[in-house]
Amino acid sequence: MEINWDSLHKSAKEIMQKAYAPYSNFKVGVAALVDDGRVVVGCNSENASYGVGLCAECGLISSLTATGGGRLIAVVCVDGDGNFLSPCGRCRQLLFEHGGNEMLLMTPDGPKPMSYILPWAFGPEDLNK
Ligand code: THU
Repeated sequence: MEINWDSLHKSAKEIMQKAYAPYSNFKVGVAALVDDGRVVVGCNSENASYGVGLCAECGLISSLTATGGGRLIAVVCVDGDGNFLSPCGRCRQLLFEHGGNEMLLMTPDGPKPMSYILPWAFGPEDLNK
């Protein structure tokens, strides 16, 4: 499937503007291409109880599931300036569940596979061993 990275980047920047980040003032947006061609997005949503705030990727995964599931092919995550952002550890695990080792994440050095972003990841197959 053809990946339009510019379009994904644009979608990530657009949804980033909608982030609710009054405590950190650090807005995050994420957009992903799904294997059926649709694009899903997410932004962070913080909370007065700081520790329960949701990362942008949490919203993305919820949206993926709510709109029919599927496999993540390519992901762009951005900060408030629109620069490519490195997903936190927990969110790498969330992305891995739905994208596996082949999913591509855009980085300042170009697209990198999840096997590079989260090496030797624990995943669904480990539960069957
Ligand atoms: N954040 C994300 O949304 N995704 C990440 O991968 C890293 C961090 C959010 C959480 C919090 O709302 C803000 O960025 C500052 O940590």
